Amino acid sequence: MKLYNYSTVIIGSGISGLYTALKISENPKIQGDILLVTKSSIGESNSRYAQGGIVAVLPTNTDDSIELHVKDTLRSGAGLTSFEVATEISKSSAEAIDNLIQYGVKFDKDDDNKNFSITLEGAHSARRILHSGGDATGRGIETALVERVKQNKKIKVFENTFATELIKDNENKIRGVVLFNNNEYSIVYSSAIVLATGGLGQIFEYTTNPKIATADGISLALEAGAILQNMEFIQFHPTSISDEKSGHCFLISEAVRGEGAKLRNKKGELFAHKYDERADLASRDIVTRAIFTETNGNPSFNVFLDTTKIDYQKMKKRFPNITKACEEKGLDLTKDYIPITPAAHYSMGGIKAALSGVTSLEGLYTVGETACTGLHGANRLASNSLLECVVGAHKLAEYLGTQDLTIKEIPVGDIIQKYTNNSIKNNIDVPTAKAALKRIMWLKAGICRNEKLMLEALNDIIEMGSRFKSDICSTIEEYELKNMILASKAILISALNRKESRGGHYRSDYPETLPDGEQSYLTQKDIFDYVKLLTA
Ligand code: FAD
Ligand code: SIN
Repeated sequence: MKLYNYSTVIIGSGISGLYTALKISENPKIQGDILLVTKSSIGESNSRYAQGGIVAVLPTNTDDSIELHVKDTLRSGAGLTSFEVATEISKSSAEAIDNLIQYGVKFDKDDDNKNFSITLEGAHSARRILHSGGDATGRGIETALVERVKQNKKIKVFENTFATELIKDNENKIRGVVLFNNNEYSIVYSSAIVLATGGLGQIFEYTTNPKIATADGISLALEAGAILQNMEFIQFHPTSISDEKSGHCFLISEAVRGEGAKLRNKKGELFAHKYDERADLASRDIVTRAIFTETNGNPSFNVFLDTTKIDYQKMKKRFPNITKACEEKGLDLTKDYIPITPAAHYSMGGIKAALSGVTSLEGLYTVGETACTGLHGANRLASNSLLECVVGAHKLAEYLGTQDLTIKEIPVGDIIQKYTNNSIKNNIDVPTAKAALKRIMWLKAGICRNEKLMLEALNDIIEMGSRFKSDICSTIEEYELKNMILASKAILISALNRKESRGGHYRSDYPETLPDGEQSYLTQKDIFDYVKLLTA
């Protein structure tokens, strides 16, 4: 087994991981090389597929203010968003955009090419969202940051390399990480391990997330003893088109509704106005539940998005990729409605962390979608995620500059033994098991939940987990399945424990919202105790 030393190790090459690496490399207080590890190719991430854009409260925009953005973020978060975090992030947004531009990101401009083109999305009370390439904001930012990272001599990149375990010392401090690449394991010593591993949409049958979104960071942190927060809150995006063959859901950005598209039920009627005064532009939890109600709980393909009132040339220019995807499905956007399905999109919960990335475990940091900093509460405001990735990464790099990052090479004989002498194989058909888990979670822990269904799901998932005879897996896909099982348990137990409906968590058996919103916390021991009680 190879052993390495790095000042900092960042796991994940989405916008949060890339930005953290760049900002650390520029921090004169941090010596030594940085390692960026990513399980696929460097550009593959949720970030790459972001469409609508990134929130920016720009001083030149007289219709907007920090106060207004914070108010919208708090309203969306349904009582669980931290005012301090929302304010800090909003105040940092203009600088974040300047920084991205310096890294080479090109945001779209208005027709006169003078001002930034700013768009509107659900639950925003002002136009404040910058975009790139029309509807390819994620690709625009990710590509520019990847280029910078590749040019940076201080950053070493390991692609196709999967983090399997965090290494702790006797005092519970994180001291390193185990990596898996091409059937070989290695150990990296570092006193700052950053989990920038993104979301968990792949746990659900219908999702906008790419294949990499399998909750790995959540599971790594949980297994190491970190505290999770608000895992019950999953955001289901109202509008995606599902590809029958690949099962992937291609997102139809909320910005399309921001530019005038409307939802229609199968009778062709407008309906969103019946559920909220903001109609099609209410927050995502409300619009998704409106679709669910309108279709008697069978939301897939029974609802349509009508873009026919948007001028076709404008549609093509403003949303080139969405227009192309619809046309490839044979739709004529001047007269056809787009059949849409809601899909799992974003995890509001994650590893409990400060905005600076500090977690409950010394030496372990987290940033981006994997982290739960208090910004999103029970329901994320559209386009706040990319902003949180960038602001959080910057703050984390500053924080690490204040820390003693001396590497401590603790004994790892047991770990080497465990990985090199393992003879037990998990005889699991991974694609079949993944598909079964996704179906269970979609049907029983999706848009509308109740105790009976969630307990059934938990029992099914516990049974699936019991098929793992060893923690050492043969492939990345098998490790992902193990992580998806653990994260599903975390979601289900958190959702069972929250006996109310709030934001992205709706329970038909507890439809009311309790007067005092409380954060929820979960550790591996809580999961163990719950499962023990259930299976006793
Ligand atoms: P990601 O970008 O998901 O990156 C995670 C990285 O970690 C990947 O490189 C992955 O390969 C790696 N990784 C994971 N596990 C391991 C492991 N075990 N070992 C090694 N590497 C690992 N938000 C907005 O604000 N605006 C938008 O317009 C917007 N549009 C969206 C559209 C779509 C289709 C989707 C899916 C999301 C959208 N979001 C949007 C949400 C936003 O894109 C994500 O929340 C954000 O990009 C997450 O960034 P991240 O860096 O935290 O994680
Ligand atoms: C979208 O473009 O609708 C996605 C925006 C987001 O998830 O923030």
